[in-house]
Amino acid sequence: MAIEKTYLMIKPDGVKRQVIGDIVDRFERRGFELKAAKLIVPSREVAEAHYAEHADKPFFGELVDFITSGPVFAMVWEGESVISLARIMMGATKPSESLPGTIRGDYAVTISENVIHGSDSPASAEREINLWFGGELA
Ligand code: PPS
Repeated sequence: MAIEKTYLMIKPDGVKRQVIGDIVDRFERRGFELKAAKLIVPSREVAEAHYAEHADKPFFGELVDFITSGPVFAMVWEGESVISLARIMMGATKPSESLPGTIRGDYAVTISENVIHGSDSPASAEREINLWFGGELA
């Protein structure tokens, strides 16, 4: 048994398209527990820290512009193997690889406006939960 926590974030395109309810429902039905959530417009500082590992990529500026362009729905989820299982439920980053039935496979056709972000490892999950929720978690 590996009960984990992960950081998931519905990006501005997902919030605008009003799919928060569907996405939360998918994770609840799977058996995961929502531990914290908030609708916020990220500051550039937090967005740049969140995507720091991509700072040298050509798309970094565009990525930060996009994620700060409107409200995101930031969440912490808990459950058995939630870090890897949430990534499977999200679908691949590349639209050509995200299968129907996954969140991105159902809602996204671009690599940038792709509805949801999820931590990719235990280390990322810890870093991202601290960055977005700090001491807010009980
Ligand atoms: S990489 O290059 O393989 O490390 O990138 P990847 O892990 O596939 O993607 C990291 C995040 O960057 C976003 N992304 C992009 N945004 C804008 N333009 C382009 N070309 C682009 N390529 C990747 C992608 O949606 C990932 O966001 P998150 O929130 O981490 O899923």
